[in-house]
Amino acid sequence: MADFVIRGDIAYTPAPDRLELCPDGYLVCENGLCAGVFRELPERYAGFPLYDRRGMFVIPGYTDLHLHAPQFPNMGIGMDRGLLQWLETLTYPAESLFSDIEKSEPVYQAFTAALRSTFTTRAVVFATTHVPATLRLMELLEESGLHTYVGKLSMDANCSEPLRETSAEAALEAVETWLDACEGRFRHTHPILTPRFAPACTAPLLEGLGEIAARRNVPVQSHLSETHDEIAWVRELFPEASGYADVYRRAGLLGPQCVMAHCIYLEEDEVSLLRETGTVIAHCPTSNTNIRSGIAPISRFLDAGLRIGLGSDISGGHTLDLAEVMREAIRVSGLRWRLCGDVRPLTPTEAFWLATKGGGNYFGKVGSFEPGYEFDALVVDIGNADGRSLRDRFDRLIYLGSADDLYEKYVGGVKLS
Ligand code: GUN
Ligand code: FE
Repeated sequence: MADFVIRGDIAYTPAPDRLELCPDGYLVCENGLCAGVFRELPERYAGFPLYDRRGMFVIPGYTDLHLHAPQFPNMGIGMDRGLLQWLETLTYPAESLFSDIEKSEPVYQAFTAALRSTFTTRAVVFATTHVPATLRLMELLEESGLHTYVGKLSMDANCSEPLRETSAEAALEAVETWLDACEGRFRHTHPILTPRFAPACTAPLLEGLGEIAARRNVPVQSHLSETHDEIAWVRELFPEASGYADVYRRAGLLGPQCVMAHCIYLEEDEVSLLRETGTVIAHCPTSNTNIRSGIAPISRFLDAGLRIGLGSDISGGHTLDLAEVMREAIRVSGLRWRLCGDVRPLTPTEAFWLATKGGGNYFGKVGSFEPGYEFDALVVDIGNADGRSLRDRFDRLIYLGSADDLYEKYVGGVKLS
């Protein structure tokens, strides 16, 4: 793997409250890993190729912890319906089309190309229930150079006919078939078990998925506590559980390899459960604003030491651009603070940490430029016509930066062309 050095204005966050800025510094990639950030280039790296990006930002890649690839064509549509109606009338019909591999192909090609052109270097993706289309999406993502987890959905209850799998047994068998087909096939594209959300799954399906997760050591993703209606429905459907998160706990679906999207209305005991199990939260503020789900108390979760990153959640979210999701996280935290007073607003540094090291943590040592981290880097050109300080330019990067400003992108030490 190539060794090289990038020279530019380097920014990264080793901790949520710690922004490291290195003006006109050197970022060294050695064997696909970050060897460090230096104000002067050490002699031992003098022979490495040097890419001069002075005047541009060099920042860690962003991780999108939650998004739905088949919903790509629905972005910006039907945002005023509320979650459960939005699912029934817009989302499930769109996903039903993926039984036809020919219909899924152009969508997954367009989705992959679009994701590749954003700040995202790693992603945790929902597909649909269909095995052939999901495998095809995995092939496209593998070719793209992005590093991802991709989930074939499991759903055997309370959803419209063509998407609903015929029984828990049939759904579990499809998962095993899919996992077998993935084996040895991809380097950077991993399967992840994906019960859509508790209301779309019977208890035997959830338990069966927990059993597969443990036996085959496969990670898990789902949705948790997104809207009041959904939570009330879960209480009706699973009266034996003490709450929504407990439904997943009982099935063995919480843990350090598990991502739960949203987590807006968690009870205190659920916060403790997520912390104790090491479950990761995907905060999806653009989606939560668009479909009016609410505002998650993210600063409280950060202060409680929970593991958190950001998700674009297309097409509840209207954009794949995590730079915009990051801004939304700051804005809605400020609104909740102003209107409810029960949380503090997120700082730009914290939001940047969520997009980089917070989400990257799900993939291991990812999302920072500390030595030994995988070399995921973005070169971003936001210009500096008025000669502002690096700190001011960092704020501009957070509040104004977008995928349009991306100059180049590296994932695991490899430049995506
Ligand atoms: N809950 C269950 N399915 C979905 C989905 O597709 N999007 C969102 N935002 N929430 C869900
Ligand atoms: Fe979602």
